[in-house]
Amino acid sequence: MKIGDTIADHPIIQGGMAVSVSTSELVVAVAEEGGIGVIGGTGLSMDDLRCQMREARAGTKGLLGLNIMVAARNFKEAVLVSLKEKVDIVIAGAGFSRDVFTICREWKTPLVTMVSSVKVARLSERLGAAAVIVEGCDAGGHLGTEEKTIDLLPAICEAVSIPVIAAGGFVDGRDIAQQLELGAAGVQLGTRFLLSDECTVHKNFKELLITSKASDLVRIMSPVGLPANAILTPLVKKYLAGDSSIEPQSCDGCLKKCGREFCILEALRRARDGDYERGLFFTGKRFPDIAAVEPVKKIFSDLLQETRIYLDRVLKTSTPPRQLVI
Ligand SMILES: Cc1cc2nc3c(=O)[nH]c(=O)nc-3n(C[C@H](O)[C@H](O)[C@H](O)COP(=O)(O)O)c2cc1C
Repeated sequence: MKIGDTIADHPIIQGGMAVSVSTSELVVAVAEEGGIGVIGGTGLSMDDLRCQMREARAGTKGLLGLNIMVAARNFKEAVLVSLKEKVDIVIAGAGFSRDVFTICREWKTPLVTMVSSVKVARLSERLGAAAVIVEGCDAGGHLGTEEKTIDLLPAICEAVSIPVIAAGGFVDGRDIAQQLELGAAGVQLGTRFLLSDECTVHKNFKELLITSKASDLVRIMSPVGLPANAILTPLVKKYLAGDSSIEPQSCDGCLKKCGREFCILEALRRARDGDYERGLFFTGKRFPDIAAVEPVKKIFSDLLQETRIYLDRVLKTSTPPRQLVI
């Protein structure tokens, strides 16, 4: 997978996950397997981000990315800190900023934008994005659309000539092969990597996802003003019931826009720390299809093997014969 001049051995990006869900340990493991490991920069202090970047850089010669929410007040600072630490790609999500295009052009570092419409994909290409990530409504994290990736992908692949990466609701090699067949240059997986040994969230978070059912998932409108998939936990029940006891006692204005019904970063941090009562547990919709928490090495070898089997089977019989390599 080629993004600008950056080439990944395998077309797999580990989605950046905010508030220290995707930290250097996970990122290094993914990069070592030939994917792109992405630090979730949102919700980190600049010192923590610098430290994460340095640890990751020291741990691998593979490809490292920064994911940052444009909605975060310190997003430009986070991009600059990461560029100084020689991050290989910058991924900007949850909002749109023209400034980040200029910054990445000056630093000669590929910028990838998260998009959920043809319009924003085209605008990104015109402003100089090296690739776009199309994320549909089955994804973990904040969502930009109510449409599924599979319904958005073909039109976006048609509309732009930069690489298009598919994200949201993919957990196995069959999913990956399907996206490649539809024209994606690669995929981004979040929940599958959250459920890895190397992901440093509290074991309660992983256990909650492994033991919950599809019916435990709800779509909420987060205080940021964007929808998100989350497990129906006590905090979410209170939020949906309009309970004002969850309103923040104090607020440092970390987001450019926030309804302040509860402190989202605090709730995500509590989830990361395993607090079932007070945490907000974001997840992709396909979490019930992930049976176990496994090492990244095993996840990668299974994903690659399954993808190859599926591609071999499908492409051999296609006319004219096509070739896709993973
Ligand atoms: C706990 C969690 C936190 C996330 N945080 C972010 C984030 O900070 N920025 C972002 O662009 N995407 C975020 N995402 C989305 C992932 O990067 C990825 O695109 C998404 O999870 C893909 O869907 P999947 O989980 O079905 O694979 C997050 C996802 C999860 C599960």
